[in-house]
Amino acid sequence: MAKFSMAASNLCMAIVALVAVAAAAVVEAATAVEHTFVVSEMKMTHLCNETLVTVVNGQLPGPAIEVTEGDSVSVHVVNKSPHNITIHWHGLKQRLNCWADGVPMVTQCPIRPAHNMTYRLNVTGQEGTLWWHAHVSGLRASLHGAFIIRPRHAYPFPKPHKEIPIVIGEWWSLNLAQLAKNMEDGYYDDSSSATTINGKLGDLYNCSGVVEDGLVLDVEPGKTYMLRLLNAALYSEYYVKIAGHEFTVVGADANYVRPFTTDVLAIGPGETLDALVVASATPGKYYMVAVGGQAPKPDIQIPETRSRATVRYAIGAGNGDEAAPPVVPEMPDQHDFMVSFNFHGNLSSPNRTGSPPVPATADESLFVVLRMGSICRGGRLSCKRSGSKESIIVETMNNVSFQLPAAAAATPLLEELYYDNRGNGTTVGGGLDELYTLPDRPAKPFNYTDRALIPWGPNEAWLEPTEKATVARRFRHGTVVDIVFQNAAMMDTDNHPMHLHGHDMFVLAQGHDNYDAVRDVARYNVVDPPLKNTVLVPRLGWAAVRFVADNPGVWYMHCHYELHVSIGMAAVFVIEDGPTLESALPPPPLDFPKCNQ
Ligand code: C2O
Ligand code: CU
Repeated sequence: MAKFSMAASNLCMAIVALVAVAAAAVVEAATAVEHTFVVSEMKMTHLCNETLVTVVNGQLPGPAIEVTEGDSVSVHVVNKSPHNITIHWHGLKQRLNCWADGVPMVTQCPIRPAHNMTYRLNVTGQEGTLWWHAHVSGLRASLHGAFIIRPRHAYPFPKPHKEIPIVIGEWWSLNLAQLAKNMEDGYYDDSSSATTINGKLGDLYNCSGVVEDGLVLDVEPGKTYMLRLLNAALYSEYYVKIAGHEFTVVGADANYVRPFTTDVLAIGPGETLDALVVASATPGKYYMVAVGGQAPKPDIQIPETRSRATVRYAIGAGNGDEAAPPVVPEMPDQHDFMVSFNFHGNLSSPNRTGSPPVPATADESLFVVLRMGSICRGGRLSCKRSGSKESIIVETMNNVSFQLPAAAAATPLLEELYYDNRGNGTTVGGGLDELYTLPDRPAKPFNYTDRALIPWGPNEAWLEPTEKATVARRFRHGTVVDIVFQNAAMMDTDNHPMHLHGHDMFVLAQGHDNYDAVRDVARYNVVDPPLKNTVLVPRLGWAAVRFVADNPGVWYMHCHYELHVSIGMAAVFVIEDGPTLESALPPPPLDFPKCNQ
């Protein structure tokens, strides 16, 4: 990482720095942080297989970006791969900076092979662990890394001895571009070859008896470590334990939480966690294990996924038998979804004094049913369903499945919005007016958590027919929006980590079975709800969120399971400009990529 002095930075930076200096003379001034990300293909060998993977700077996981709150950050992306690339800064609120959000054809034209782009990022008002990843179907399995924002002043807890990023990911022997094609074709049987922790498969995997490398965390007795965890896996929520140790959870999605102690963490794709661990066990070696959760049968099963790392106490600290194998934690069952439900239910905000209050009521309320459906192949109007090859399985929100605008459309939605707002629509592709409005609620209500709908067949077939469209919902600047996500047992009962770009959401409540407004609104936590950019909607249940739509732009909202988003569990939220210059989207950067040149 290169840090440049104040002298090299621009006026804007100088102002930020002056404000920081005025606030507390002892605090380090904001700096300009710059990175260069060279995206290229590289051969890597695991499990006896050589695979071509797309990576940043030759690393998997990619480089961690480490900044202090309020710094100015730019990342120069140089695309030396044969793929169209965009990079998304997952969880950064990017106030008035939607241009740098990195969603192909939603916010920008992709960076084509042999092209470059500089992302200028806004890291003001957020502290904690976030991450970055390619927003390209499949490829984010190998194009991702941590994005760490340290406080400019102090942590709200004693400073840990050391901070350790823990990136949970997957190793795919399958070519990831091929995976993306398969998913779009409604072929959903692919699974990863291994779970990884910081890119390492660990000793549960081997090639002809030679075990794979595993991550080793060296600790000193009595010291406190802060694990900065993120789940970059395409497919699974993970349960994480360290034998003989407990975690104190202090942050989630770059928001502090009221600290709580637990022996198991649950982290869905897209989520991040900050957890303190004290090296207080008898000196020795202990496994840290991550096991992938999945819904039980009759849901379709994939092989259990699991990886492990070792926590190792310093030699000579009385750790006795060096040859003794590490202690193994007792892991929850992969089907025990209550681990996740309880963990997420434990999240709350610490004292919110000084932060904006939770809005007491909403201006608009949506009830969004998350479920599978199908469309007929080749644009036909009728076809066989229930997994027949005549139909393609898709994921939906209120029974419409998202379709990204084609790159051939030439104008990303955000540019349409920007020029429409100025009475200057480019009219290419018809602009935003042609978007399909995400309905407030499903047209056809049913018993969403009826277990009889899980097996593919006659019970669910009548609910399958759905459609594809570029689904959007437009909000006036400042609208307080409530969304109840209801998970339906339609052909599967996966949970859904629903991620909103550009905003954090208050998670007001979660529950089992069907949401019932009369009963459940009374249970909303409007006092100290956690703030999340990704809300895990429990299987066979629901979650209610509230957010303020005050960041103008076009923001993607989608499930963070790669299969689900690539087959349509997504929408865009179009947020209008506010009344002042300070609440309106500024013009695109001068070097913004064009689609066709
Ligand atoms: Cu990490 Cu649109 O997602
Ligand atoms: Cu999903």
